[in-house]
Amino acid sequence: MKLQGKTILITGGSSGIGLELAKQLLKMGNTVLITGRDPIRLAKARQQMPELHVYQSDVSDPAQIATLFREVSATFPQLDVLVNNAGIMRNIDLNQVCNTDDLLSEITIGLNGPILLNQHFLPHLRKQPEALIVNVSSGLAFIPFTISPIYSAAKAGLHAYSRCLRTQLKNTTVKVVELLPPGTETPLFRGEFEKEMRGQKGMPVETLVKKAIQGIEAGHTEIRPGLARVLGVMSRVAPDFMMTQMTRMSAPKA
Ligand SMILES: NC(=O)c1ccc[n+]([C@@H]2O[C@H](COP(=O)([O-])OP(=O)(O)OC[C@H]3O[C@@H](n4cnc5c(N)ncnc54)[C@H](OP(=O)(O)O)[C@@H]3O)[C@@H](O)[C@H]2O)c1
Repeated sequence: MKLQGKTILITGGSSGIGLELAKQLLKMGNTVLITGRDPIRLAKARQQMPELHVYQSDVSDPAQIATLFREVSATFPQLDVLVNNAGIMRNIDLNQVCNTDDLLSEITIGLNGPILLNQHFLPHLRKQPEALIVNVSSGLAFIPFTISPIYSAAKAGLHAYSRCLRTQLKNTTVKVVELLPPGTETPLFRGEFEKEMRGQKGMPVETLVKKAIQGIEAGHTEIRPGLARVLGVMSRVAPDFMMTQMTRMSAPKA
């Protein structure tokens, strides 16, 4: 699909990969709508890009998803691209978890969110001559990262779901692309992992987004830039070895 003249909704578009996607897609001549929870972040994004349409909406809340769908489909009936990008990633030591109140947040935001959004938007997208769903999972869908157990589970789930969705939609006008980023320089990558990453650098977010757009336009269904490709191969060749290496890499230094 050529990403030009499209109307694109990006969840979690106020920071990191979503914000950079919004910038590059606007420059390419698309109408871009973003969502996020924090109104200050949304306002900052709008300051940078006055053409942007912003919606305060939480993908972990089914009622807010329903409202978002109603508002967006009424205002932008031409909407033809949905990017499920919103996500969080936490460093969780399961030995230390006592309060399970928010234990499942990565799943409610990063797995339940896309599934429910897609179900709301699908009837609308199916009416378009050409439409696209992009699910942003992670290279960690292939090899889990021990210090982020719930995140890894959510991304592996999103990967499996994306494959099923693509197959079920194969005779429709809606294409399904999965973007599996490697570690990418964003607030999420830096957030809770500074100590474990020991100065390792992620892919620049501008490069990641360029590769994502090129992949979509080239018709790729799974886009695995940089180390995500390596993780995909290693998950078939030596999954336990790779997981052990990644666990060692993130273990506190003795
Ligand atoms: N950076 C990496 O290394 C990396 C690698 C692989 C995959 N990914 C994936 O890429 C996606 C984007 O991550 P990022 O690195 O760009 O993170 P980021 O800079 O932290 O941005 C996350 C965005 O999601 C929004 N968000 C979080 N929870 C939300 C919710 N419940 N409802 C709506 N919006 C929500 C945030 O805004 P608010 O907090 O204001 O809601 C923000 O706009 C995520 O799915 C992540 O798992 C990232």
